[in-house]
This record gives sequence, C-alpha cells and structure tokens, in this order.
Amino acid sequence: MIKQQPYMDNFWQTLKKPIIALAPMEDVTDTVFREVVLSVSEADALHVVYTEFTSTDGLCHELGRPKVMERFLVNASEAKLLKARNTKLVAQIWGSDPEKFRLSAKLISEMNIFDGIDINMGCPVKKVVKNKSCANLINYPELAKEIIYATAESTTLPVSVKTRIGFSRIITEEWISHILETVPKAITIHGRTRKMMSNGPALWDEIGKAVSLRNQSGSSTLILGNGDVLSYADAINRVKQYGVDGVMVGTGVFKNPWMFNTEAVEVNISHRIELMYRHITLYQNTWDKNKDYNVLKRFFKIYLNGFSRAAHWRDAFMRAGNYNEALLLLAEMEKQLQAAEV
Ligand SMILES: Cc1cc2nc3c(=O)[nH]c(=O)nc-3n(C[C@H](O)[C@H](O)[C@H](O)COP(=O)(O)O)c2cc1C
Repeated sequence: MIKQQPYMDNFWQTLKKPIIALAPMEDVTDTVFREVVLSVSEADALHVVYTEFTSTDGLCHELGRPKVMERFLVNASEAKLLKARNTKLVAQIWGSDPEKFRLSAKLISEMNIFDGIDINMGCPVKKVVKNKSCANLINYPELAKEIIYATAESTTLPVSVKTRIGFSRIITEEWISHILETVPKAITIHGRTRKMMSNGPALWDEIGKAVSLRNQSGSSTLILGNGDVLSYADAINRVKQYGVDGVMVGTGVFKNPWMFNTEAVEVNISHRIELMYRHITLYQNTWDKNKDYNVLKRFFKIYLNGFSRAAHWRDAFMRAGNYNEALLLLAEMEKQLQAAEV
C-alpha cells in the first residue's frame, strides 16, 4: 500500500480563486523571464509561476546535474518579488522512472525554494515522447500513477500534474478520472491531444468535462484550464464559462507581458523600452555566457510592436549580435522615437 506524506503546506488550497498561472515554457520561463513578468503584474492577478520542465534523468545524473540544475536557478531579486507578492513557484519535472521522480522530489524539497512540484504529462515533442514520458504517459496510465505516488511519497510539497486530453484521440473522461484517483493537489489540462500538438483551437469543452468529473467524484483536486487564453478578462470568462478553479497562460504572455493585471494596462512606448531594458540587463547579469545570447533575441519581438516603424526596429535588433549592441540600439531607438514625438 502506498503511503503519502502529509502535505505540510498545500498552497493550492490557500490561494484566492480564480487561480491565475504563468505556464512552464522551455527556454522561456527561467528566473529572468519570470521576474520580468512578475515585475509588471498585480499580485492578485498572477498566483503561480513554474520553472521550465526539468529532466529527472538529468537531476539524478551526477555529472549532468549541475547543468540541469541551472533550470532551478532563482535569482535573489525574483525570490524577493515572489515573497512580497505571495506568488508561488513550482518546479516542473519530467521523466519515466518513478525512482528518479522520488529522488528528484527529495532534492527539490531540500532546496527550500519551491512551493510545489508539477509532473509534466503533456509535452508532445518527439524526443521525450519516444520514451514513456510526458504526453506518452497517457498511454501508460499505471506508470503515470506510480510516478505521481513516488513523487508525493518523498516530499511534503504539494504535487500537481499538467497534461492533455488524450494522446492520439480524445480520452478526457478515462484519463482524467484515472489521474484524479491519485488525488494530485491540482491538474492543469491543456485542451489538446498530443496529436493536435499546438494546432487548432484548444478544446475548452473537454476541460469543462474534466471539471464535471472532478465535481462528481467529490475530489479536492483543483482543475486549471490551459490553451489560447490571451488576456486577464479572457481568463476570467473561461473560469465563468467552464467552472475551472483557475487558468494557466502560456503564449498569451508573448503578446502582452502586462496581461496579469485585473485592469488592462495601456502600454506605451516608454513601458516597452523600460521592460526590454530590464529583460536584457537581467538576462546578461544572470546568464552572460552560460546561455546563448540568441535565446534572448527571441524575446525582442514581444517589446517591438505597437508603435510606428516597429518592423524596422525588429529587423535592426535581429542584427544586434551581443548584449552591448542590443543596449546601444535600444538607447538609439529611444532617442529617435523621442525626437519623432517632438
Ligand atoms: C516555447 C514553449 C515551451 C513550452 N515548454 C513547456 C514546458 O516546459 N512544460 C510544459 O508543461 N509545457 C510547456 N509548453 C506548453 C505550455 O505550457 C502550454 O501548455 C501551451 O503553450 C498551451 O497554452 P497557451 O495556448 O496558453 O500557449 C511550452 C510551450 C511553448 C510555446
């Protein structure tokens, strides 16, 4: 019989509903991006943030561990912000060996910086799905259960699951009922199958079905819906329409990093320049040569839109080959835009 650790601090139950979360995103939601977003969000409009998904194989591999652990870096400035706002930070992990989940959960707990652990059962990419991991766990439901139990047994942190509505076909009822039996503290459901990848609209009716299942079962597990949410108002509407306890936002943040505010923020060019400056300098101070500068470049288009000649500046920034060039260009852009205003 599996004995679960008592949860010391199930933050999920203490959060004000509806719960709004920033999705885990590989090469995006590191400590830098999370801090950038938190810095322009309202405490009451962003309750939970996640790390990028992190390999349990990597965490359990002595030689590989230091590199993998970079994903768990939390800058002191981010930690301060999280504490001040009471926003929770969840470490997301993936893999296929329950023993490695057990060890990884212990390691994460001992770090004393995370509020929860999330298990990735949704990533669709080939290189992870070819093993019995991520979205492919939908095809191995007993292994999925074993993984959840092994994780929960070795930590007092609340354990949650992020998944999809099926692998090659929609099996919301069968799959979510199965996961509910393990009583995770929360399940985030991305309303697409693995086969759908990111294509077509997310099927929120299926997410609504999962809420009904949870309600019928009397389970205390919270359900968060995920897919295509583009604004705070949109998130609130989905909560009303589908009865979810919360909403997770992924790519919507690229269109508007200011979206986690109860009242829509009117973003002007000064806001954009200021946030882009913060992003570049924080990224450089945090990673410098440890991460590829080109990863940072992908974020520039978030800031370079919604003003005249934005396309021209996007092109120019794509040609900036390092941090200094990008910062000089930003100063030049600010000067030219101010001159154009006069
Ligand atoms: C660049 C990128 C990286 C992602 N990385 C992860 C990840 O590490 N873990 C995870 O559970 N989902 C990951 N996802 C999926 C998102 O968390 C989310 O489920 C998906 O984008 C759908 O939500 P959206 O329509 O709000 O973007 C990623 C998505 C994108 C676009």
